[in-house]
Amino acid sequence: MIEIKNLSISFGDQEILKNIDFDILENQITILVGQSGTGKSVLMKCIEGLIEPIEGSIIVDNEDIFTLNKLELNETRKKMAMLFQGSALLDSLNVYQNVALPLIEHTELSETEILKEVTEKLELVGLKNVLTKMPSELSGGMKKRVALARAIILKPKYIIYDEPTTGLDPIIANEISKLILKLQNQYDITSIIITHDMDCIRKIKGHIMMIHEKKIVFDGTYDNFINDKRKIIEGFVK
Ligand SMILES: Nc1ncnc2c1ncn2[C@@H]1O[C@H](COP(=O)(O)OP(=O)(O)O)[C@@H](O)[C@H]1O
Ligand SMILES: [Mg+2]
Repeated sequence: MIEIKNLSISFGDQEILKNIDFDILENQITILVGQSGTGKSVLMKCIEGLIEPIEGSIIVDNEDIFTLNKLELNETRKKMAMLFQGSALLDSLNVYQNVALPLIEHTELSETEILKEVTEKLELVGLKNVLTKMPSELSGGMKKRVALARAIILKPKYIIYDEPTTGLDPIIANEISKLILKLQNQYDITSIIITHDMDCIRKIKGHIMMIHEKKIVFDGTYDNFINDKRKIIEGFVK
């Protein structure tokens, strides 16, 4: 479980989040919504330990991540995969090399075992015969799939998707949403999705958290979210 306690984040005198509290429960999908610039990506980077809050704590599996030393923080980070908005594949490496990278860095697996794992994960995300392709040869949707295969290769406990469907055409976006649901059903994984794409939210449902003006203004089920009569939520859902 990830517990966010009394968390405040600022950059200089710009306050981004102020005294927020919420829990991310295991084996379910939490969708973090909010308008652009409300601090969703910043919050996720903070959960990964990449940004320090000015106040409060983030507790991952009973450990306050900002009290850990570098080595311990790295161990905790291995449990958390992050799918960045731009896919973040390494352009000079082919698909196989990109997906294999975490295994080469963090495990002692043989080349044969790595090839098997990589092929398996690529098939899981719906890709075949792409091992030797370079990122520049892939469409946006394919890049997302490759990045997803790489994100899950170390079998993370948590996966954070930052705007997984933004910038994709509606059909591909829908396939990525389906894929997120498939992974959720197939693995014991806890998914956190940052998005402002209502199509993606409708497809995935899940537990919704909404950030607005530095605060969490909604924390509840999808059904309660779409029926909430407050202006900021109605305006978002329409
Ligand atoms: N490293 C940083 N330094 C200073 N300001 C930042 C930094 N990262 C994000 N911000 C600011 O924090 C605010 C929230 O950004 P972000 O979390 O990216 O929004 P979003 O909800 O769209 O993901 C924005 O005003 C952004 O300019
Ligand atoms: Mg963002």
